[in-house]
Parts: sequence; structure tokens; C-alpha cells
Amino acid sequence: MIKLLLTFTLVVTLDCQAQKVDSLALTPPMGWNTFNTFAGNFNEKLIREMADLLVSSGMKDAGYAYVIVDDNWTGPRDSLGFLTVDANRFPSGLKDLSEYIHSRGLKLGLYSDAGYKTCGGYTASRGHEFQDALVFARLGADYLKYDWCNTEGINAPGAYATMRDALRAAKRPMVFSMCEWGNNKPWLWGAGIGHLWRTTGDITACWNCIDDHGGKYNSYGVMQILEKQEGLRAYAGPGHWNDPDMLEVGNGTLTVNESRAHFTLWCMLAAPLIAGNDLRTMSKATLEILTNKEAIAIDQDSLGIQGFRQTQPDSLEIWYKPLQGGDWAVCFFNRGSKAATIRHDWRKDVIRDDVTMSELNCVRRTYVLRDLWKKKRIDTTANTLVSTIAPHDVLMLRLEK
Ligand code: GLA
Repeated sequence: MIKLLLTFTLVVTLDCQAQKVDSLALTPPMGWNTFNTFAGNFNEKLIREMADLLVSSGMKDAGYAYVIVDDNWTGPRDSLGFLTVDANRFPSGLKDLSEYIHSRGLKLGLYSDAGYKTCGGYTASRGHEFQDALVFARLGADYLKYDWCNTEGINAPGAYATMRDALRAAKRPMVFSMCEWGNNKPWLWGAGIGHLWRTTGDITACWNCIDDHGGKYNSYGVMQILEKQEGLRAYAGPGHWNDPDMLEVGNGTLTVNESRAHFTLWCMLAAPLIAGNDLRTMSKATLEILTNKEAIAIDQDSLGIQGFRQTQPDSLEIWYKPLQGGDWAVCFFNRGSKAATIRHDWRKDVIRDDVTMSELNCVRRTYVLRDLWKKKRIDTTANTLVSTIAPHDVLMLRLEK
């Protein structure tokens, strides 16, 4: 009897520890992060400005909730081993900034790493996971991005589960973003540990380049990252998302068309939408892309189904995403370098989603076509769709029942 009781207690205890705090990311998280534009060049003043701009630009209203302070914010440990905040960047301390962010109706994201040092060489959490989680909680963090630099010889599921348990023990619900670049196939083991996991190395702000950083590591353009999402859609869903990395909309060499296509494809992928541009200088076009609520509604659809691609000849791809209530999102994507004219007969093929067993059948039902970038109804699926798409651009539609 005692043995039975002990086993029961042990199972219950382990089971409690094995849960991440759920229901925090039932749709893909949205926010803004320091890294893509600023890397280590930020301080409390800049982050306050970004928080203000998220509100005044309308981005907060569109759903961008987390202000994420990426690498380079930690100071040395104090005499008791607690993490301190880099006093040069945060002369008033991070708690003040956190309160300010919360007072603006936003949430705070912080960053650490499973090694002793972050990628930027700053203090990280190895061996101090439970202590650090307490510090994140005291600072009022609502989100933790946990990186994978300097982790040679560490077991990835174990390291991420340790921080998950530490966050749980700190008793402040935080979205847990696992940033191990897909090295250990986190889609196979991450759902019970984190709310999102990076599927690739870092994105960089170009359409189709690979940046080799002097042979040390690679970062990848938008098309390179897109290709690496193949085969992963079955692993994503409410509370556990594939993360193809943050947005480069409005950054680097991306044209407006390319930024729009990048954003649209991330919405079709049900990807986290974490902007990474300088909000002080963004163009009207960039803001319009980032705040297109109809496109965002595709990303944030409550079914949480990651879209899929049917490759077509001549660089034209068609992407499909089943939506709540029987609607579908459909994206025609021109990968080519010349404008492409599509003639699409909706009634010719029945589209089957083998993962969710849903079906788009335009013979059985006629849908209204809503163009999500023009923001108007354009036709129905009873007629052949004829449209010309600029190079590296998209036609993004919602098929309404
Ligand atoms: C890694 C991550 C990036 C960013 C940097 C910070 O490269 O993948 O997203 O957090 O570290 O140094």
C-alpha cells in the first residue's frame, strides 16, 4: 500500500513538473524584438521609445503585445549568484522599464541562453536556471527566449525542460520560446516544453542570400528560411508553434513586394509575428504591411493550422491554410523575377489537407474571394481567377463560405 502511495505521489509530482504553463500562446505570439535591427546597440531609452511607438503606430492594436529585450541585457552575477542587469544600458534598472511597458498595455520579453554565456558573451543561465527564472519573474517578464550558444555537450531536451520547470517554479506565467535553431529537431520533443521553437538558424534581411559570418555560422534570407519549413507543419498547433524566426519586414535589402510576401508567407505558416525593424523610421508601406489585420487574422486563426504549399511550374506557388468555420486562406506566390499571370480554375482540383483531413472543394461549394491586401471582395470561386502578380509578390485571398 505504502509502495503504491509513493509511486502515485512520484508520478503526480513528475507529471506536475512536466507541464509547461499552458494556454499562453494559443495563437502564435506577436511582438517586437531588439535583435534584428539593434543587436547590442540598445538601452532603456530606446526600448521605451519602441514601446511608445508600438502603441502610437497602431501595432499594439493590431496584436503586437511583447516587447522583447534580446541578448546583451544581463550583467554579472551578484555575491549570491543572482543575475544582475547591465547598468550601462539600464541605469534605472529593468524593473522600471518593465513597469513602463506594462503601463502601456504591453508585455515584457527577456532573453537568456542554456550555456554559461549568451551568443553575445553575456551572463547566461547554465547552472542557475531556477535562480534566473526567479529574477525574470521578479522583473515582470511575460516571455522568455532561451538561446543555444555555448552549449557543447549539453542535452537539448534536458536543458529546455530544466528551464521550463524553473519558470513553472517561479510561478509567473511566461511564454517559453526555445531558440535552438532546429539543431536537435525540437518539433519532435518541444510541444510539452515550450510554446514555440526555432526551426532554423538566424534570418537575415535579404530575399535569398546566405550570410556566412566569416565561416563561423550562417544566417539565411527569407527564401532560404522558407524552404527549411518543409515537412514540419504537422508538429505545430495551438500552444506549440514552429518558429521560422523573426520578421525582417522593412529591413535590409527587402523591397516592399518582398516584405509583403515575407509577411504573407509567415501568416500562412502560422508563424510567430515578431517584428524586428526600427519603429522610429519605418515607412508607411512597412507599417501597412505589419498592421494588415486581415492578414494577421489568417496567422492568428484559432484552429492554428500551419498552411501548406502546392508547388506549381514557372516559379508560381499556391499555398493553402484551412481556417476556423470552413473558410480557407489561399496565397498565390510569384517566386520568379518576372511578373506572372495566373489563370486559376477553382473547380478543377479538390485540395486535400492530409494532416487535418480537411478539403477545399469548389465544385460542391462556391466561396467569395476576398483580396486581403486590396481589402475588398473581388469575385467568387465560380469563375476562373485571372490576375497578374509582380515578381516576389503575392496575391493573398480569404475564401469565405
Ligand atoms: C542567436 C539567436 C538570435 C539572437 C542572437 C543574439 O543567434 O538565434 O535570434 O537572439 O543569438 O545574440
